[in-house]
Amino acid sequence: MARRDTDPGAAGGARSAAWSAHSAVDTAEGPAVDIVLEVLEGCGEAARREAERLGPVDIISSTELRLCTRDLTAVRALRCVVSAYESVIAPTRRPTGILETSVMQDLTARIRGIRRATPRTTPFTGIRIAAAGAGTPVMRRIAEELSERSGLPATEDGNLLVRIRRADPGIAREASWEVLLRTTPRPLSARAWRVVDYPGAVNATIAASILDLLDIGADDEVLDMTCGSGTFLVEQLAVTAPARAVGVDLSEVAIDAARAHQRAARHKGRVEWVVGDVLTTPLDPVFTRILSNPPWGELHGEHAENLALHGALLRRAAELAAPGARMGVLTHEIRRMHTVLEDPECGWSLMDEHRFFQKGHHPRLFRLRRRASRG
Ligand SMILES: C[S@@+](CC[C@H](N)C(=O)[O-])C[C@H]1O[C@@H](n2cnc3c(N)ncnc32)[C@H](O)[C@@H]1O
Repeated sequence: MARRDTDPGAAGGARSAAWSAHSAVDTAEGPAVDIVLEVLEGCGEAARREAERLGPVDIISSTELRLCTRDLTAVRALRCVVSAYESVIAPTRRPTGILETSVMQDLTARIRGIRRATPRTTPFTGIRIAAAGAGTPVMRRIAEELSERSGLPATEDGNLLVRIRRADPGIAREASWEVLLRTTPRPLSARAWRVVDYPGAVNATIAASILDLLDIGADDEVLDMTCGSGTFLVEQLAVTAPARAVGVDLSEVAIDAARAHQRAARHKGRVEWVVGDVLTTPLDPVFTRILSNPPWGELHGEHAENLALHGALLRRAAELAAPGARMGVLTHEIRRMHTVLEDPECGWSLMDEHRFFQKGHHPRLFRLRRRASRG
């Protein structure tokens, strides 16, 4: 998809031209586009590995990456990323410079391209500006100008999100502003398959990052011991269908949600969904990858029981694991997990801990390896 054909060198002298932070990589298919990827804290490394398949990636912070790519279709399919934005750097000291014709033409062309690439079933409904001082006259003028040029109304709940901020000095060679155009009507993290709102469901980009860390392949036999609404296994099918996938949950409501999610996602591959207590449900001891996101707080069950459950889950997982198996436990019960792992009978060695951050919560992934002596 062709975008603009700009020259960063020329932009230094001609302040009216919008230019890209990366030098444009011109090819027969069109120049590469600078994309800003927003990620949740803890997902950055997995997001970098995923995005690097599309082009060079710079890590800007724990929540932001920059990608230079021509493959905008693949950008919209990134799984570890919350949102992807096309970036336009306007070489101007003041945001009024964004109103210059060349910048506006560039933004309008990109908005047109973004809309063209969006399915008609989920159209853009309006332009929403997000900026420090979004209500100031200059920001309102930018919103009105973009609205007029694109034919989309400027509204507070518009789903074409336009973020405006000072450009990072590491990106632009002189004082500049950056305009970010979200490439999709909803964040990428809001999966279309999530048709049931299951309390305590893990964020899909965190799930995708955890699956990347567990390195699950087509030969693996995977068990999610406390699958809830099925986020891990549905996300896994989007990448690689494992040889076997089993999801167990005590709750029939959870398993109904998981089935609905798998149906809506329409990925290839089978999942055996089981209503039952994973501690007692008969299962073959064959699993090479085991996942668990146990209940926490009072959301499912009682807090005290949930604590005891961590130890029981690890012991049960050791019974069901194949030799050399790996396990990922995503939990808020950090101290409890450390205590459980000190017990040699738990059957697992700690590989590492990985912290995530989402909406005020800091769940941690414990990556574990099956102890050889018990294999
Ligand atoms: C935090 S939720 C899991 C959410 C899930 N990762 C998702 O994305 O929807 C924890 C789940 O553990 C289940 N659970 C608790 N004890 C269990 C047990 N002994 N066997 C199977 N499932 C259990 C609960 O019913 C609950 O659905």
